[in-house]
Amino acid sequence: MVHSMQVIGFPESRRQSEALAQALRCPCHVLDIHHFPDGESRVTLPSSLAEHLVICRSLDHPNDKLVELLLCCKAARQNGVRRITLVAPYLCYLRQDACFHPGEVVSNRIIGEFLAALVDEVITVDAHLHRIQRLEQAIPARQAISLSAGALLGDFIAQRIKQPLVLGPDSESRQWVQAIAQGHHLEYGVADKQRLGDRQVEIRLPDLDYAGRHVVLVDDVVSTGQTLLQAVRPLQAAGAASISCLVSHALFVEDSYRRLKETGVAALWSTDSISHETNAIPLAGLLAGAVLALEGS
Ligand code: R5P
Repeated sequence: MVHSMQVIGFPESRRQSEALAQALRCPCHVLDIHHFPDGESRVTLPSSLAEHLVICRSLDHPNDKLVELLLCCKAARQNGVRRITLVAPYLCYLRQDACFHPGEVVSNRIIGEFLAALVDEVITVDAHLHRIQRLEQAIPARQAISLSAGALLGDFIAQRIKQPLVLGPDSESRQWVQAIAQGHHLEYGVADKQRLGDRQVEIRLPDLDYAGRHVVLVDDVVSTGQTLLQAVRPLQAAGAASISCLVSHALFVEDSYRRLKETGVAALWSTDSISHETNAIPLAGLLAGAVLALEGS
């Protein structure tokens, strides 16, 4: 059978790419990437490409990945590919959405324009939209869609924890926490966070009674882990019965995963947007639904 759609994966996104292709009932090809000793990448495309490529790759560690994406997309177009959909469950460079100090580059729109020049559509999950409301304000592609994993996260919590208290660590998390809690009529709160540096944050918990409660901290991203670490400590001091953490995107840089586990948290869970041993919530169904919804557009 000749397929008009083909999922293209990368070595580290093999599992997610194959699951997406299965959900879309189309073939999947995982690209061969060779890294030369000097750090350059050689990308090898398959000999036969479908008309519509669905490239599946989260853009954590983005600097190398963006160059490989550029090579892949440009070569695919040269080989007659007519439509490219980028499925990047985690999207990079969205946090620098304003200039905070003179001369600082506002990278979200620049990287957004780079992506829009390569692909026709971008699909992501829980994009970090803070000072902008919609993803297309950063990525001027034909379609730029940020899906919410909120319903999946909410179902996951509701199935595992009786009467949880859902807590967001900062004002930016309110959008996710509120959606999760309201969907399942769960109690929730949002803490106040001050970021003093890349690896230094201060958290002030909302004034709630935590004694004996099963608290689930929910955030879009865990990176250095400082946000979650600084929220876990006062919750323990306030007598929470258990503390679990659930994130959409498990970046877990440096030794953050070990440090969080050492606090004695009951569980650390994530979606499979980025491969990590905390992955507990597959996104393939959600992502495939969005690809198919765009297919007719
Ligand atoms: C920031 O506003 C995000 O929502 C996350 O809270 C943040 O990126 C987590 O970073 P880290 O793990 O380094 O504290």
